[in-house]
Amino acid sequence: MRKNIRRNELCWCGSGRKYKRCHMLEDTRKKRAAARSDTGPMVKSPAQIDGMRRAGAFNGRLMDHIRGLVRAGTTTEEINRAVHEYTVTHGHTPAPLNYHGFPKSVCTSINDVVCHGIPSPDVRLAVGDIVNVDITTIVEGFHGDSSETFMIGTVSDAARHLVEVTARALKLGIEAAGPGKHLRAIAEAIEPFVNAEGCSVVHQYTGHGIGTGFHEFFTVYHHVSPECDDIILQPGMTLTIEPMINLGGYRVVTDPGDGWTVRTKDGSLSAQFEHTVAITETGAEVLTLTPSQRAAGRLVVVPGLDV
Ligand code: MF3
Ligand code: CO
Ligand code: CO
Repeated sequence: MRKNIRRNELCWCGSGRKYKRCHMLEDTRKKRAAARSDTGPMVKSPAQIDGMRRAGAFNGRLMDHIRGLVRAGTTTEEINRAVHEYTVTHGHTPAPLNYHGFPKSVCTSINDVVCHGIPSPDVRLAVGDIVNVDITTIVEGFHGDSSETFMIGTVSDAARHLVEVTARALKLGIEAAGPGKHLRAIAEAIEPFVNAEGCSVVHQYTGHGIGTGFHEFFTVYHHVSPECDDIILQPGMTLTIEPMINLGGYRVVTDPGDGWTVRTKDGSLSAQFEHTVAITETGAEVLTLTPSQRAAGRLVVVPGLDV
């Protein structure tokens, strides 16, 4: 593998073919896998799945705990405080804090921010905003990871449409996951639906294997791509599904100032929902359901939307 080779250059292997027609796919997959080196076994034992259940359930309770705070007038730092306090009070660890240098305990991503928004005492939620709150906790060594996009008061019809499409996209992705299914079935369920609704699927950020590591092998694409890892889902695998959906184009840019905040390139709105799931003998068990989702018998509950 050679660094910085361009797609139309000759392949490094000496085949005489263009890189894109030779080793490019394989190299891309290897690079993705290397970025997920904090990795446990791809198939977890029943005891490990139980650990993942406890982590997911805690993450879900925490989501319900902060739900009321996500309203006009609250600063994103107040949400961060609440997430941090609840987590450490229960003896657990907020996974984002210091993860590759991330400075806070939760990600709060408003409007055109796609993901990895940094909570701040200077940023106050306002009527009309949409905000994704992405919570990840470590409970007895295992990770639970889930997020929801909240609408603050009345939002534009376009924002509402985006949030609805994104919630449905997560549900479609979860329904497509199960034993014997190819990993790419998730993207195949999500992307055509999202495009038909006039929205686009972010390519740059993906779901992931999860366990004792935050981001384990493999990469869960939400867009259809030949780069998708060649994996058949098996009972005992645990992964996240977390489509980031834009109202405009799929391209994103990272804030050069803080190195974290990811925004849509065209300034359009972006939304996201995420759950951690375990593949079982019969389908996908959602590990991060919140008590309110359990009570409603739904995978996603968005006040004011029928999803
Ligand atoms: N929770 C995000 C995910 O779903 C990752 C956040 S990484 C952080 O994968 F460093 F920004 F916290
Ligand atoms: Co997350
Ligand atoms: Co995740």
